[in-house]
Amino acid sequence: MVNMFRASGRDIERCFGGIFTELLSTTRLGLSDSHIQHGDTSVLLHSAAVAYYSFRLSRRLGLLKHLRQKRELLRGALLHDYFLYDWHHYNNENGLHGFSHPSTALANARRDTEVSEVEANIIVRHMFPLTPVPPTCGAGWVICLVDKVCSLYETFNRNIYTELRRYIRRCQLMRQAETDAFAA
Ligand SMILES: [Fe+2]
Ligand SMILES: [Fe+2]
Repeated sequence: MVNMFRASGRDIERCFGGIFTELLSTTRLGLSDSHIQHGDTSVLLHSAAVAYYSFRLSRRLGLLKHLRQKRELLRGALLHDYFLYDWHHYNNENGLHGFSHPSTALANARRDTEVSEVEANIIVRHMFPLTPVPPTCGAGWVICLVDKVCSLYETFNRNIYTELRRYIRRCQLMRQAETDAFAA
């Protein structure tokens, strides 16, 4: 199981670097780093892991033939938990977190960026079977599955996804340097 979660910096960049940095600078995705998802894994790191491993699995399954499919899978995965609150200390006004956060994530995503039909399907159906309606696209099924495997892995392990953690930190530092340069 541990081997499955190994990644190299070059592969991370190749798999999802462009879309990840784009979303970091055009949405509030970076805020997800202040909230814990499971164990010591932040929501941002969890979302990055789900995106990265979903991309790898989909590539292996031959589901990523077109650029648009890659883009939608990555954006949907990175935004699937875009609920932007600490679910350990906040009651979602629309109901229990487990059931309601996919709709909150989709509403937030639609407010901050343009969301395609496939991306919406990925986000709002990712908690199947807890929420009863299943995804209707291949990417949605992959993310639904990878999300559950990653969540289990995060719950029982600490200090994981080492390369992804490093990559995210580098992106954050670069963004900070850009902001500082712009303000100077
Ligand atoms: Fe979720
Ligand atoms: Fe998730």
